[in-house]
Formats: sequence, C-alpha cells, structure tokens
Amino acid sequence: MQNVLVTGGAGFIGSNFIRYLLNQDPDVSIVNLDALTYAGSMENLGDLPGDGRHTFVQGNICNRELVSELLEKYQVDTIVHFAAETHVDRSILGPDVFVQTNVMGTFTLLDVARQFWLEMDAFSGQRVHFHHVSTDEVYGSLSPDDDDFSETTPYDPRSPYSASKAASDHFVRAYYHTYGLPVTLTNCSNNYGPYQFPEKLIPLMILNALNSKPLPIYGDGKQIRDWLYVIDHCEGIYRVLQNGRLGETYNIGGENQPFNIDLVQEICDYLDEIRPASDSYSSLITHVPDRPGHDRRYAMDISKINTELGWAPRYDLSAGIRKTVDWYLDNLDWVVAVMERGGLDDWINENYAKRGVK
Ligand code: NAD
Ligand code: TYD
Repeated sequence: MQNVLVTGGAGFIGSNFIRYLLNQDPDVSIVNLDALTYAGSMENLGDLPGDGRHTFVQGNICNRELVSELLEKYQVDTIVHFAAETHVDRSILGPDVFVQTNVMGTFTLLDVARQFWLEMDAFSGQRVHFHHVSTDEVYGSLSPDDDDFSETTPYDPRSPYSASKAASDHFVRAYYHTYGLPVTLTNCSNNYGPYQFPEKLIPLMILNALNSKPLPIYGDGKQIRDWLYVIDHCEGIYRVLQNGRLGETYNIGGENQPFNIDLVQEICDYLDEIRPASDSYSSLITHVPDRPGHDRRYAMDISKINTELGWAPRYDLSAGIRKTVDWYLDNLDWVVAVMERGGLDDWINENYAKRGVK
C-alpha cells in the first residue's frame, strides 16, 4: 500500500482514518476524494500535517472521468471507500441521493478500478486492493433472543440507507467473483467519537444538553446499538488492509450494547459531573414519535476478525463517551463551523418539528 485513494475522507470516519493511517505508515501517500456534502468539511482535516502526503480533491465519486484521472495521475494502488450518504432519518425523507451515491457511486469506483487495475494492467504483478466500508445495518433487526450478526447472516435491510449499502456490498462481491477485482469488506456497528456531524445520536445529545434543549428519544428508547469508538474502527480497517483475505467480509463491533435511553442517561450523568447545571441534564429527555421502520437491535459477532487478524476493541463505552464529550466541549468552534456549513438548524426543523420538538 503506497498510493491510497480515500473516498469520503472529509467526513467523520474517513477523516479519523486519514489521521490514523498517516500516523501508522510514514511511507503512504493519500488522495482524499470528497464531494463536501453537508456532512463533509475541511474543518475535519485542519490539523493534518502539511507534508504533502495528503492531497484533497473536491469531487463526486459518481464522476467517472474524475475518478479515472485520479487513479492514473496518483498511480493509486489501494482504494478505501467511505464516501456515502449515512443518516437513516435523511434516507427516509429523501432516498434518491442514497441510491445515487451509495449504489451508483460505489459501482463507478469499482468499474474504474477494474478498468485501470485489470484491463489496463497498470500494476502488473503488484498488489492492488479495493476496501469497502459498510455497516451492520445491512443485516436488519435482531429480536432479543436472536444470535448476533455474523458474516453469514442473510441480508435483510429495512431502511433506504441500509438497502443502498446492501446493494453496494453486493456489487463489491460481484466484482470479486466476476472480474477477480481484489476486494475486502468490513461491516461495522455504530461509531462515535471526534468529528461526528451533530445530526447523529451522541453528538446531538451532547450539544442539545449544553444548550438546554430537549433530548429527543425515538419511541420507548429501548432500541439497542453496538457502539464502537471510531479509532477502534480505523484500526480494524487497517488490519484488514494489511492481512485480510481477499474476497472476505469482516464484521467489526464494539461489544457495547446499551439501550439508547441508558446511553443518553450516561451522557447526562457525565455532564452533570463536569458541567453541573441547576437541574440534571436528564430532565431534558423527551420521548418523541418513533422513526418509521426503526430497527430494534444490532449486535455484532466479531469472532472472525478477532481470530484471523487479532483485532478487538480497545475502548470501553464509558471511557469512550467521556473522551467524546470532552472533545466536543473542547471544540465548540468546530461545532459552530460545521453546523453552519452543514445547515444543521434546517435539518433539526425538518426532522424534529413534526415530532413536536425544536
Ligand atoms: P459521514 O456522513 O460523516 O461522511 C460521509 C462523507 O462522504 C462526507 O465527507 C461527504 O461529503 C462524502 N460524500 C458523500 N457523498 C459523496 C459523493 N457522492 N462523492 C464524494 N464524497 C461524498 O459518514 P461516516 O459516518 O464517516 O461514514 C463513512 C462510511 O462508514 C460510510 O460508508 C458509512 O456507511 C460507513 N459506516 C458508518 C458508521 C457510523 O456509525 N457512522 C458505521 C458503520 C459504517
Ligand atoms: P443514529 O445515530 O441516527 O444512528 P443509526 O440510526 O444509524 O443507528 O441513531 C442511533 C440510535 O438512536 C437509533 O436507534 C435512533 C436513535 N435516535 C434517537 O432516539 N433520537 C435521535 O434524535 C436520533 C438522531 C437517533
């Protein structure tokens, strides 16, 4: 791995991954292709070393000419594909762009890589690698007694977001089997940590609490997610890039599976400890109408990546939540900048006003 194209590297996980990879591997050069949608921001990349090992290109992964040009110009031997529309609630209100970016964009990257690496034989004999970053949501929703999701759990996506990610996963595998494109996939559970756009549960709750705004809990709040600190995810991807078997999928998860309501309570408890207000922050918790088709429970079986590649999460949830709350409190300038740039207030009005919350 020498010249890496990272897509979506101005987003939450992509920007953390670029920082991680530059630290891990002093010889790697990265081209970062990102459209800078509402979710991406140059503010996420401001602290990167200016040593020429990271080149940012603003552009769309659906633009075939641009992707071809980048592979050739930078002699890309590895693609790590994060770029996507990622918010389930947005996929319910506007699914079209999810199909465009997540399905057509992934298809475009795969097809250009096939042409450049296999047809033109640009790297004859050398290792090339396409890694696709996906989600646990493709597996659907677990009942309380179901086994955790394994790599062989049948796909059963239930939101436009997860359906589009499932379709992209199928294309990645199809390119492996049909054309021999050297691919790997990771399907990961919910991430949290620095640089997450504050539309997602954890940063939204931290910032609403600080601003004395309601903390909107969908339905009864007894849904379960499998939370993973973002740096653990980056390490898992890195292990797969180094030693993962081609054609294989690896599930990544945090083994931290609280009810949503208990997770929000934990955030409130920590804020009560470090920023006490007249009332506990938990008095702001407000149950609101549920998300349509809301998946009840996710839980990942991580035994494959653990056994084959020695990966396991390093952060437990309490330590990770504390670190994350501290990061948001220390980076309120970043918060203001990305909220303005990403039009977060408009989104809050669109998604929450109809639930009776502003
Ligand atoms: P994000 O929404 O924070 O960032 C997505 C990035 O992709 C943004 O920078 C955006 O500008 C860019 N982008 C969107 N459409 C694009 C396009 N057409 N062309 C180029 N760039 C485009 O997302 P994230 O949370 O960092 O997720 C990254 C990847 O990880 C996604 O593929 C997602 O499905 C997957 N994933 C996320 C989680 C999670 O909890 N956040 C969990 C598992 C898997
Ligand atoms: P989210 O961060 O949107 O991730 P995902 O939908 O991909 O799992 O939501 C995490 C959980 O929190 C999910 O069960 C939905 C719930 N949730 C709320 O209860 N209120 C909110 O305002 C948001 C954004 C999410």
